Parts: sequence; C-alpha cells; structure tokens
Amino acid sequence: MSTAQPASDENTQLELVTVPPADASTHKRASRASAQAMASHQREISVSEFFSRNRHLLGFDNPRRALLTGVKEAVDNSLDACEEAGILPSIRVIIERITDDRYMMIVEDNGPGIIKQQIPNIFGKLLYGSKFHRLKMSRGQQGIGISAASMYGQLTTGKPTHIISRTNPRRPAHQYEIQINTTRNKPEIVNEEDIHWERDRGTRVAIEMEARYLRGRQSVDEYLRQTALANPHLQLHYTTPDGKETLYPNSIDELPPEPLEVKPHPHGIELGILMKMLQGTPHRTLQGFMTQEFCRVSVRVAKQICEHADLTPNARPRSIAREESDRLFKAINTTKLMKPPTDCIVPIGEGLLLQSLEKNLQADFYTSTTRPPAVYRGNPFQIEAALAFGGDIPDEGPTQLMRFANRVPLQYQQSACAITKSLIDVDWRNYRVSQSSGALPTGPLVVVVHLASVWVPFTSESKEAVANYDEIAKEIRLTLQECGRRLGEYIGRQKRVAEAARKKSYIGQYIGHIAAALQDLTNDSDAQRQQMENQLRTMLERSRS
Ligand SMILES: Nc1ncnc2c1ncn2[C@@H]1O[C@H](COP(=O)(O)OP(=O)(O)O)[C@@H](O)[C@H]1O
Ligand SMILES: [Mg+2]
Repeated sequence: MSTAQPASDENTQLELVTVPPADASTHKRASRASAQAMASHQREISVSEFFSRNRHLLGFDNPRRALLTGVKEAVDNSLDACEEAGILPSIRVIIERITDDRYMMIVEDNGPGIIKQQIPNIFGKLLYGSKFHRLKMSRGQQGIGISAASMYGQLTTGKPTHIISRTNPRRPAHQYEIQINTTRNKPEIVNEEDIHWERDRGTRVAIEMEARYLRGRQSVDEYLRQTALANPHLQLHYTTPDGKETLYPNSIDELPPEPLEVKPHPHGIELGILMKMLQGTPHRTLQGFMTQEFCRVSVRVAKQICEHADLTPNARPRSIAREESDRLFKAINTTKLMKPPTDCIVPIGEGLLLQSLEKNLQADFYTSTTRPPAVYRGNPFQIEAALAFGGDIPDEGPTQLMRFANRVPLQYQQSACAITKSLIDVDWRNYRVSQSSGALPTGPLVVVVHLASVWVPFTSESKEAVANYDEIAKEIRLTLQECGRRLGEYIGRQKRVAEAARKKSYIGQYIGHIAAALQDLTNDSDAQRQQMENQLRTMLERSRS
C-alpha cells in the first residue's frame, strides 16, 4: 500500500486510524518559518548541483550503466566531430580495471581536436556544447554529455578528467586535468601542459569512475558492436578489461553525406520560444524576422501571416513580443505552409543497413527498407528498418530489437520507447510470426529500427527512449509492416517448400509397395516391375516443389 504512505519522514509506521485534528494545547510545535527566514535559504541551484543529485536522469544510476554511458558520450562525440570535420573516423576504446568497482575508460579519436581555450568548458561545465542551438542531425544535442561523465567520475573517485587534444600536426598537443566546481558549474584546471603526442590530430579522454564491467545485453561490448553496425564507415578498436582486443573494420571508405542544418519550421514553434525569438532577433521588421529565421516562409507567406494576425509586415519584432505575439502565433498555425525540407536527414540507407546486418549475424533471410522523410512538430525525421530471420538466431523468446537514434544504439528503457511500442502494435501474425497480444513477436527474429532526425525527441536527458509522437509511431509501423510483408512471403514460400518435400518423401515411401502390388495383379516380370518403379520415382523427382 505504498500510496497510503504518510508524507513525513518521522511517521514511518503506516497507521490506518483516523487522527483527530491537531489541537494546539496538546501538540506544541516550534514556531513555523517566516517569509524572511525562508528567504535566507532561497538561492540559485547550479545545473551541475542538480544533476549531481539526479545523476540517474543522465544515465549514471548504477555502476554498470555509468560505464556504458561514459563510453557512449565519448564515442558519440568522437563520431560527431570526425564527421563534421570530414575525417573518416578511427576510434580506440580501452577499459582498464583498477579494482572490482573502479574502472578507467579511455576513448581516443583521430578527429579535428579541440582548441585549447575550449577544453576546460567542454569537460568541466554542464550544458556547454556546439549542437544545442542548431537543427542538424547529430548524435549529441544537449551539450550535457561528456561533462556529465566527467562529473560522475569526479564524484565517485575524486579524480579529475584527463584530456589530450591536438588540432594541428605542427603544434604540440595540449594535456589537461579538469574538475567541475559543481556549486558554480565552472571548470577548475588541476593541471595543464603542452606535450608530445604520437597522433597528428585528435582527442583522447580518460575518466576514472566507480563502475562495473559486465558482458551481455546492456554492456559496453554490445553498444560498440551495434555502433559498428550502424556506422559502416567507422573503424573501431576495442580493448576489454581482460585484455581481449576486437577490431571492427570499416566496410566503406566514405563518410555519409554531411547533413545540412535547417532553420526551424514555424509549425513546430511554441509560443514562449516565438516570443524569445522575437525579442532576440537582429531583424528590424516582422517580415524580415519571419523570412530569415524560419524555413518555408517566403515574403508572400510572411505577408499573409501578418494579415491573418492583423499586424503590419513592418512592425518591430520586439514590440510584438510583448503585446501581439499570441495573435501572431495563432496566425502562423492557421496559415498553410510547405513542409520543412527533408534533405537534412541522412539515413544509413537500405543497402548498407542490409550489408551491416548480414555481416553482424548469420540468418536465413534478411530485408531492409528506408521510408521517405516525414515531419513531427516541424522537425523532419526518417525511419528505416531491417530484419533478419532464422539461421543462428535463437528460436525461443521475444524478438531481439536493436533501436538506433541518429546512428546511436539505445540500450535502456526499451519498454518506454516509441520504437518498441510500434513494433508491438504491428500484427506480426499477419506475417506468419507468432505474437501474443500486447507483446513483442517471438521466434528467430532480429529487428533493427533507426530513427534519424534533426531533433530526436528523447523521453529524458539520458537519451535512451524515443517519445511517442503519433507521426513517428506511424512511420515506424509502416516501415516494419513493409519488412514484415517480405518476411511473411519468405516464410510462406519456405512452408510451401517444406510441405511439398514432406509429401514427396511420404509418397516415395510407398512407391516400392505400389509397384509390387501392381506386379501382383498383372503378373509382370520383375524387370517390368523395376521399370515401373523407376518411372514412378522419376515422375516424383520431376514434380514441382
Ligand atoms: N572528441 C571530440 N572532438 C572534438 N570536439 C569535441 C569532442 N568531444 C566534444 N567536443 C565538443 O564539445 C561539445 C560538448 O560535448 P558534449 O558535452 O558531449 O555535448 P553535445 O555532444 O551534446 O554537444 C560538442 O558539442 C563538441 O563541440
Ligand atoms: Mg555529446
């Protein structure tokens, strides 16, 4: 009866008696706080203080997951940086065991490096990054990734984060040891020096943390295996704490095309954001603001919106922010606009996804499909899926689902994710796969779903589950249905083949007896009987399977 729990900490025992109203004469209380007394406790909370207490929100809720999240943040950053700089990524990941509950994670890349002045802020300040204020498909988006890993390491071991970065082969590398001052959300430099480094360019991050290394479904091993699957251009070298080395070679020598940055679409903007944009815009007229800060707003459309809002196109954005933004907001949403451009999304692609899956696991049947791009709340996105069936995939248990968002594997919060919900919503029995209602399909099936978007709507900062927007759920269902149909056809064909083979072998068993029985009736010679038997066998062989 956890819902009946009393609110106060002292009342730990649950009593189901009715307590009479408090009586001042019997219950003497210390005098309550005044507004002045309360004011003395009221102060700002820094973002790092907040997240150091709520580390589960960032994916650091237990030592096992912490190790995964740390590696993930660093590898995702390395991939983003390499791709943005047009460098084919080659990444090294090393996990070293220090004690049973303490590990060192090291991630090293051949990316563009980080300039000296930025290193402290990137690793020692939460909510600092280059990706938050833009709409562009990338792995990181909140600017809270690697600094959170660094803060977790510091909180659990007291050790600073160790960084080496080099941006130019003709200049030395910079080495830093950095801590976060959580009260002020500011970096503290413990040590800095220029050093010789064998790499020409790139970044190396080492964080010691309280952690646990385990294999299996939600492990670092699995994250790296899936990362290689979704990034065929990545070369990855991985060393586990027990010294096992794995190389995932890249299967293509080309980077994916660079995703374009887009401006926000007016239909995805909330009123508060619109007001903030009106306040902060450098444009002096409403028309200039509308056409320059959004996509799909031409001069003609801007004028139309102004007319609907009963505002003049020459009005000053700042004054509108205060008084008339509500009208403007309504007018925007009632004006018909072209959908946002979708060339800003770069999927993995049907062909490469299929190839990766074939390389990754042994199955009897594979298929993949990429849907055309679509839009949710003004944000373009695109879904692709692949599946593998039979072969080495275990026959028992629910389907193994691999979820990806902007090529990043999602390994936690499976049941809270729109991808899982959509997989369950497809009726797999239509495709000859067993499924109980409201559950994942079962059988020797592996399903891969990738959501690519300029802004992935995660359910929380730990970026593990996709929020259930109708448009997204629908696209996932359609993609899976397409793959499902092809699987159904394959299973149907296999069933027919198996059925024909079964019939054939059944008939084959009787041919000898039939020939003998006929010989009995016709008094044919043994040679004639043999001839008849051969003839029947040839006919059976020739029959269509
Ligand atoms: N390995 C790296 N190479 C180059 N730049 C990096 C690297 N890691 C992080 N950065 C820079 O630091 C910023 C902050 O990273 P992070 O805290 O993970 O936030 P996010 O990835 O969400 O922007 C990134 O936006 C990027 O500009
Ligand atoms: Mg990041």
